[in-house]
This record gives sequence, structure tokens and C-alpha cells, in this order.
Amino acid sequence: MTASVRAYLGDDVIDALRRPVLDEARGLPAKVYTDEQFLVMENASLFPSTWTGVAFASDVPATGDAMPFEFCGVPLVLVRDQQGEVRVFQNVCRHRATIVVQEPVRGQSTLKCPYHGWVYGLDGALKATPFWDGTADAQQLPVDASCNGLVSVRSGVWNHVVFVNLDGNAAPLLEYLAPMDAELAHLDIAELEVGHREEWTFAANWKLVMENWEVYHHVWVHEGVFDRMSDEVDTRTGEPYTEMAAEGSALFLRYKARRPKSPPKVVGDVLPPVRQLAERATPHSTANAILPNTTVTITDYGFAPAIYLPEAPGQTLARMAWYFAPGATEPRYRAHVDQILDRWLGPTRRYADRGGIRPQDHHCMELQQRARNSPVANDVKFSTTWEANVRYFQDWVIRQMGCDA
Ligand code: FES
Ligand SMILES: [Fe+2]
Repeated sequence: MTASVRAYLGDDVIDALRRPVLDEARGLPAKVYTDEQFLVMENASLFPSTWTGVAFASDVPATGDAMPFEFCGVPLVLVRDQQGEVRVFQNVCRHRATIVVQEPVRGQSTLKCPYHGWVYGLDGALKATPFWDGTADAQQLPVDASCNGLVSVRSGVWNHVVFVNLDGNAAPLLEYLAPMDAELAHLDIAELEVGHREEWTFAANWKLVMENWEVYHHVWVHEGVFDRMSDEVDTRTGEPYTEMAAEGSALFLRYKARRPKSPPKVVGDVLPPVRQLAERATPHSTANAILPNTTVTITDYGFAPAIYLPEAPGQTLARMAWYFAPGATEPRYRAHVDQILDRWLGPTRRYADRGGIRPQDHHCMELQQRARNSPVANDVKFSTTWEANVRYFQDWVIRQMGCDA
């Protein structure tokens, strides 16, 4: 696979991406956003080798809840087990390989295959093979039950997000997430409770989301949210107020302390803020991305993770959640919660109205995707001032796929 990604791109493309002066570098060609073959390569050698966000722990809130999903074309199932832990299994029966869980279910004590009724525990263990020997309670299992349970997939939960490592060979999850964990460790994100969920697909390649980790677009795309370039840049010095940084699997947009801030006009009772567990000397980054596909934005009053899963080269599923301090569902906080959601999703909450940050961003990505049907899109440039993160991401992707520096 190493050779094939390099061969697919060509040495000239890789060299152009890695030119030392960022203004002179050129981005990945249009075909990596439009070509089915490149998505096949990503599904074979990018996503399986990383820890990829796939779901939220709140998808299976209680013991016995299960949710089937696909990742890299592989059917998996998310399960809350008897101990309350979130587990991920291959959603495939060990008898003659049939999908076991077909749709989300709640409060099951076991999971039963629809084809011949083999039964699995919430820990994946094979429990029963009815009628195998002609009796409903066949005592004799046809196979060794100890090695014929549902096949476990390496998974872990970090601040409500369920990550999987399909090939089982990545560094431990916390090691992989160390830069992001260190950035946010002073905040009690784990105690927050889910307040809103949203899910939609949009017509753009998943990589364009992660390439949006810059603030250069804010003034143009998020009119009414970020009003002026002077909110983003010190117009006397030309220096951005945001430090755009990357480390390992993490991208940060860290506001510098001296950025002038106008206090938000809060409607209704003010939500309890996200609890601080420790002091932090410098401002933490509020808008964050965990490569390859998860964004984790944290503000004073909430946590907004989003998971982006490719469905096709030009189609991405966005799974989005908003978490608030315990008690935020009380009616007295409703106006403030709505105000926060308005900012993210627009007052109508409709993607088509493009009234909030997320629909505005996703719409821009759709414009970028359409543009990638033109050869002009093979000549993508980066601003040294603003877009180091974009090049970092592109280079991270091809390094992860085997194109070493
Ligand atoms: S395939 Fe599942 S019980 Fe036969
Ligand atoms: Fe944006």
C-alpha cells in the first residue's frame, strides 16, 4: 500500500505539498476528493490504522442498548454491556456470517441472529445455538463457544466520543489523543450531558471538513457570527489573533490572550459553565480537531463534538452532538441553550437555510467539492499566515497512508 499511494499521487505532487515555504506549496490534487479508488485506499490504509471517531456513548445510553453502523464498509455494532461499558463488535454472526443487529435496539439482555437464532451475550459471548441438535435448548454447542463469540473491535471512549482502531495496531487511545487530552484535561467534559443531536449528509469529501481548521474563512462564511476581519487579525500588525497549531493527531485554533473580546449577549438564565478541574496558565484552544475525522469544540458553556464519516468520495455523514453542564435541560436554561444552538445550526435548524456555523461551513465544502471536477482544482495554494494547519492535515493523511517524509 505504501508504494501504491506514492505511485497514485506521484513524486512531483508529494514534493509540491512539502515545499518548505508554505506559500509555494501546492495542495493535494482534485482526484483525492472525487476518486472512488482513493476512498478505497483510505478505507484500507488510513482509517483502520488510526483511532477514528465513529459514534457517541449516548447512542447506547443504557445496558442492553445496541446500534449497528458501518465503518470502512465493515458492519459493526455498538453495545452497552452489563457492566455499563461501551463495546464495539463486528456485527457478524459466527455461524454463517449474517448481520446480527439490523437496527438500533434498547434494553436487550442478549443479541440474537435473525437467520438461525444463535444468541450472543452483551459481552459478545456465544450463549446458545437452538435446535442445533434438534432440541430448542441444544446443550451441545456446535463449536467451541469460547472462541466463537462476536469478534471484538478495539475501541475506547474519550469525552463521550467512541473511537475504534480497526487494525488493532495503533498506539493506546490515550497516547494517540495525548495532545488533545493535555489541551482539555483541566475541564470536566466527562460530566457534561447530551442536550442536542443532529445528523445530516452533505455533498463533499470528508477531508474538506478537516481542511476547514483555519480562521481565514470566518469573516466571509460566517457573516453575522464573526463580523469583521479585525475580529480575527490585529489590523495594526497584520498578525492573526489566533494561533493555529498542530501536534500529532490534534489541530488547534487557540485564541491568543490579547484578542479583544466582546462579551456574549446571553439570553435567559446563564447555564452553569463547564467545570474547571485545574487552573491553566494560557488560554486553551476552543476549536479543536482530532485527526482523522472528529472535531471537538469546547466553549465556556458546552462541548460540541462532531464525527465525519465518508459515505462516498463526494458525500459525508456528519454526526453532531451538543453537551451541556448537568441540569441544563431545566426549562429555565432553555433560552440560553437555544441561543447556543441557534449560533451553531441557525434559528430554523434547517441545513438549507444556512443560518448557523455548521451549515455555513458544510455549504462551502460542497462548493469546494463541485470545484474539484475542474482541472483548476489541481493548483491549490496555502497562505503562510493562515493555512499551515491545512497543509499539516494533508501531509498527515498521506504519511498515515505510508508516504513518509
Ligand atoms: S447465520 Fe447466524 S445463526 Fe445462522
Ligand atoms: Fe467555519
